[in-house]
Parts: sequence; C-alpha cells; structure tokens
Amino acid sequence: MTAETTQTILGLETSCDETAAAVVRLGADGRAEVLSSVVASQIAQHAPFGGVVPEIAARAHVEAIDAIAGRALAEAGLDFKGLTGVAATAGPGLVGGVMVGLSFGKAVSLARGLPLVAVNHLEGHAVSARLGADVAYPFLLLLVSGGHCQLLEVEGVGACRRLGSTIDDAAGEAFDKIAKTLGLPYPGGPALERLAETGDPARFELPRMLLGRRDCDFSFSGLKTAAARIAEGLTTDKDRADLAAAVQAAIAAQLAERSDRAMAAYGARHGASGLRFVVAGGVAANAAVRARLQASAEARGFAFTAPPLAYCTDNAAMIALAGAERLALGISDPLDAVARPRWPLDEAAAAASPTHAPGRKGAKA
Ligand code: KG4
Ligand code: ZN
Repeated sequence: MTAETTQTILGLETSCDETAAAVVRLGADGRAEVLSSVVASQIAQHAPFGGVVPEIAARAHVEAIDAIAGRALAEAGLDFKGLTGVAATAGPGLVGGVMVGLSFGKAVSLARGLPLVAVNHLEGHAVSARLGADVAYPFLLLLVSGGHCQLLEVEGVGACRRLGSTIDDAAGEAFDKIAKTLGLPYPGGPALERLAETGDPARFELPRMLLGRRDCDFSFSGLKTAAARIAEGLTTDKDRADLAAAVQAAIAAQLAERSDRAMAAYGARHGASGLRFVVAGGVAANAAVRARLQASAEARGFAFTAPPLAYCTDNAAMIALAGAERLALGISDPLDAVARPRWPLDEAAAAASPTHAPGRKGAKA
C-alpha cells in the first residue's frame, strides 16, 4: 500500500471488555509504527459472573476512556495537535461499549478539527499482522476470536471476500465454554492453554467436526458437547489437563484443516507465488494453534504471519492502523456514523448465508 502522506492516528477500542487507546504512525512507505498502545482490561469486574456483562462493560468504558486516551497520547509524546486523525471502533460488538469509544472519537474529531474513521473491529484484526511485519495485500486471513471464526480473502483496504465461517460457535467461544466446564476461570482460552501444557492430547478421543467437508466452514458445538460429557466423569488434575490438551488439539486441527482447504482454493485463484496466510484474533495467541497453522501454511507454500501476541487480543493499535490506512486513501466518516452491533466484513456473503452466525451470543459470550 502506498500512502501519500504520513498519518498519525489516535485509535480507540471499546467493543467488548477492554478499554484501549493507541497512537500509530503510518508512513508514506506504508510501514506502520506503534507509538503507544494502552489496554485496560475489565476482566476483574466480569470474572465473578463468568463472562462479559454488557452493562458493566459500558459503564467501565465510560469511567476509563478519558484517562486511557490521555495515557496513549502521553506515552506517544504527543498532544492532539500532533495527530492527523482519530479512529474508533464502530462495531461489531456490545453496542453500549461501542457507543462510548465512538462518541469519544467524535468529540475529539469535532473539538480538534480532525477527520474521523468509524472502524470495523474485524478490519482492525485483519490489519493487525501489519503492526509487527511487512504484510502486503492480498492475503488469506483466518480470523479467530471470541465472537468470530472466518476465512477471508483480503484483497486490500476494506475489500474482503468470505470463504467460510462458523455455523455455530466461534473458536474462542468454544475455548471459553469448554474451559468453564473444566472449572477454569474466565477468560477460558488462556487458562485452558496453561492447563493443557501438562496434558496428554491423545488420551481422550473427541469428534473432528466437518472433517473432509468440501466447504471452508467451521463447527464447534459437537466438540463442546463431547467435552462436557467427558468432563463430568473426571476427578484428578491430570484428567482435566489431558482433556484440555485434547480439546486444544481438536480445535487446532479443525482450524488447520479448514484453512488448508481455503489455501487450496486461494492458491488456485492467485497463482503459486507471493502467497501469504495470516491468522489474527485472540485465538491466534494460542501457541498450539499457531504452530499447527504455520505447518499447514508452509506445506502449501504460503508465507505465514501471526501478529505479535499483544496485538492478537483486542487492542487499539489495530484500530488506529485500520483508520490510518483508510485516511491515507482519503476515506473518512461523518460525525453521525452509527454504532453497529452487527457488521460483517463481507456484507454480501453474510446476507447470502444468514445462518452462518459469528457465535450466537456475540462477542466473548
Ligand atoms: O480478539 P479477542 O480479544 O476479542 C474478540 O474480538 O472476541 O479474542 C478473545 C478470545 C476469547 O475467547 C479468549 O478465550 C480467546 O480469544 N483467547 C485464547 C487465548 N487467548 C485469548 N484462546 C486460546 N488460547 C489463548 N492463549
Ligand atoms: Zn476482537
């Protein structure tokens, strides 16, 4: 991507349970530099309820956003005058929280005369690998988070074509729900990964959902049910570690098998050179998932990129970069931009397959 001017953007992220602000500079050469990235997690406030409580999240964002944005500017060594624009997540997500960050962004835009970009959170995840490495468009993307599980061809800024998505739960949601049945604290994904470290993945046999199916869709509900049934009969920590390891291996295997199918289709369309496979979203922080996907990508002749760990889970640097890329192309949004609880990246594909939900209960259910 070639930008005509350098962009220095304040990014704001409030779509779930992290209040985040960051300053990112996108150079005229298309390289991104993170000047600051501040993430205030609300985990402690939600943990007693075993998941994110939307009303608590929205209130916590209101309380935190001012100070977090101020810290991001201070750590970048800038004030508002040093910015060329402001970018805020406008969806998809818990709409009470989204409205907090988007309204804050609009206020900054109006008060400081800066252009506003209303960023799709998923577009943020899609560009997140560009925060740590030179990743040119186009690329094949596996987006795996608490609310989403989809394979996308990313042709350029805002140009995505969906190849497949989950027909029930998102991968992160599966990690979280199975972790809960294993008695692990919220958020379950990282806790399950730690428990799996000492487990034997071969001890329990779990269903390999959709294996061999000719499309690129995902399904985790059968795995969830099977794991819950096994978990009922377990007594020792070793038992639980073995089941955690088996679950992690089964999720990684399904993600790799479906991605392999998408790589074959993508490779057939794009030719044999310059192929790249990117994994992004919270589940991309899982080492077993990363390793399995890297092996699949390399076997298909794809370069493999995953974002630095800090930019896998929700953050505002990815939102700032997505905004910077749009502003570099002269794209901005009006002050009446709306907060959107649902906002598919490939609207046409989403309309054609309305049953392919991004995890039924939404972000990090
Ligand atoms: O991208 P993210 O922070 O938020 C959404 O946009 O949903 O992803 C959060 C999800 C949660 O489901 C969390 O359990 C999962 O990513 N996750 C992990 C790991 N770290 C976060 N899952 C497995 N292993 C991890 N290390
Ligand atoms: Zn996310």
